[in-house]
Amino acid sequence: MSRLQKLYLGTNTKMYKTIADTREFLSRLAKLTGDIPEKELELFVIPSYTALETAVKTAKGSRIKIGAQNMGWEEAGPFTGEISPVMLNEVGVGLVMIGHSERRQFLRETDQDEERKVASALGNGFTVLLCIGETLEERHYGISREVFKTQLKIGLHSIAAGQVRTQHPVKKLRIAYEPVWAIGVNGVPSDEHYADENHRIIKETLCELFGDEAGSDIPVLYGGSVNPGNAGSLIRMPHIDGLFIGRSAWDADQFHQIIRSVMRSWKEER
Ligand code: PGA
Repeated sequence: MSRLQKLYLGTNTKMYKTIADTREFLSRLAKLTGDIPEKELELFVIPSYTALETAVKTAKGSRIKIGAQNMGWEEAGPFTGEISPVMLNEVGVGLVMIGHSERRQFLRETDQDEERKVASALGNGFTVLLCIGETLEERHYGISREVFKTQLKIGLHSIAAGQVRTQHPVKKLRIAYEPVWAIGVNGVPSDEHYADENHRIIKETLCELFGDEAGSDIPVLYGGSVNPGNAGSLIRMPHIDGLFIGRSAWDADQFHQIIRSVMRSWKEER
């Protein structure tokens, strides 16, 4: 069972929900989760860019945090198609996801790109969810650990080296461990023991980077084909602090059921 004081649960709706879909999803989810105490759960939804403004308005007054799926690292400049931290701030977004495997895989983002984005997002006051995880090929060659440790060490390099001037940059950091082979319709969910062992190594690496106290306070969420059947066994593992869910969370009622059942398992273990 995670040693952190609260649970972390969230979803990224990828390139699926329109503005209208997002509004409907969030109003329903806000209504269903309104009674869950903030101190027990950090709940977030990461919709598409075009739905962000509506999402922030719809989630206002609820306990749902709204995040962006990506962010350009410069505040302004000749970067066609990018969205800057200033623009996200203006919309009222508090969270930014960096390095989702689909961006690394299909949009060719590198660990160095993620490093710049993490530094810029934290420097601009956002909470950051950095996604890491090995591909099937990397797992086949037995280099999973090397891969996600590298993603962490490069992605977090500027904050570990103290180049980001925020008072407590690490307090605003969350990690999502998402093995690429576990994600999406063709994904095979990781079994809870494999996921937990890798979470342990991730936590060890975070302690190496930030010291034992700060490092072990950083929430590490598991993602990749989380569903109503496996969510409970994943959350009972000692190094898994939360779940980052795709498809199974896109229906507000089903997401709500997962939230309640995961919270029950989490409380039973405490
Ligand atoms: P999935 O997506 O739960 O649909 O596998 C997870 C993710 O991409 O974060």
